[in-house]
Amino acid sequence: MTTNNLRIVISTGGGDAPGLNAVIRAVVLAADKRGWHVFGSRNGYQGMLDTNQLVHLEPSAVYGIEELGGTIIGTTNKGNPFEYPVTSMTGEVTISDISSRVMENFNRMHFNAFIAVGGDGSLSIAHRFAGLGMPVIGVPKTIDNDLSGTVITFGMDTACVTATEALDKLKTTAKSHERVFVVELMGRYAGWIALESGLAGGADAILIPEIPYDIRKVADKILDIDVSGKKHAIVVVAEGAVPIDGGRTTKGESEAGRQEVVLGGIAERVARQLKELTGKDTRHLVLGHLQRGGSPTRFDRLLGTRFGAAAVRFIEQGKFDTMVALDPPVVKSIPLADAVSRMKGVPLDGDTIQTARDLSVCLGD
Ligand code: F6P
Repeated sequence: MTTNNLRIVISTGGGDAPGLNAVIRAVVLAADKRGWHVFGSRNGYQGMLDTNQLVHLEPSAVYGIEELGGTIIGTTNKGNPFEYPVTSMTGEVTISDISSRVMENFNRMHFNAFIAVGGDGSLSIAHRFAGLGMPVIGVPKTIDNDLSGTVITFGMDTACVTATEALDKLKTTAKSHERVFVVELMGRYAGWIALESGLAGGADAILIPEIPYDIRKVADKILDIDVSGKKHAIVVVAEGAVPIDGGRTTKGESEAGRQEVVLGGIAERVARQLKELTGKDTRHLVLGHLQRGGSPTRFDRLLGTRFGAAAVRFIEQGKFDTMVALDPPVVKSIPLADAVSRMKGVPLDGDTIQTARDLSVCLGD
């Protein structure tokens, strides 16, 4: 493929993550340096389904956006073109494969490459488009850090800073009132945010999806620290954590066109049980989308910037159907198929879990 005058399209899909704008800026500036043009597809694949929702991203459109949270081109976790919810005149919703429209628009707009910035859902879709012949490069994004092949995704660091600050604030009120606080953090399949923020924030118990928890073990831990004289406790629980005798706590059924059910409510459940088992005054808090918002940390801005520039280099080198990945000290390209084939959980034999155990932090097992 010639690398003159290329036309690149970029989309951001799935839940937003701090650092998305740093990726967009890096792609636009690195492409501009090569004399290429970049177009943003608004709200995930929407711009590829309706070309009125494509926006030409000139360098002037991205000046100063590195410090902004969110994404200037929008995102959605609905609208998979392979399973698209179509509403009929009678209001009935049916799921259709309209991926051919994306391919037609890609060719009609004379695009040369597609950069998909997303988590496992968006990148799986991108990989399917690569199978249809689209030259695709993936950029891994998720605060949950559950994508394989890259040591870390951008967004997680900012989420952990927010979560750790919240834990620090809760500790002072927990101490004043001699209370137990149960804090629900994001982490659908993987407990990276809960484990790392919980350890950094001095939590007494950390419950993550990778380790099914026994609520009696958590209650025993709280009673132990009570006896030792520390009358307050912080329990961090990932939204996707599971009890040994049950499943995940959800907020209802999945919505049409959305791949995942909405999780939520586990902190309330754990708090209720701990109050019953320990008799301690107990409160719960769900940090929710605060973890996805705000200005990205230096780490996330830099990683997003490195990923964006690397994506442009990989286009130049013709490395398609791949994902940019951090393998310190380098950013490399790995097959997209490898990245989306399995989820990256917290390694149970890793140093961070061992550190928690060395510090007698209860992991619920
Ligand atoms: O994947 C990132 C994530 O923040 C998950 O931790 C969480 O379950 C989900 O997104 C929430 O999605 P939504 O913004 O649709 O509620």
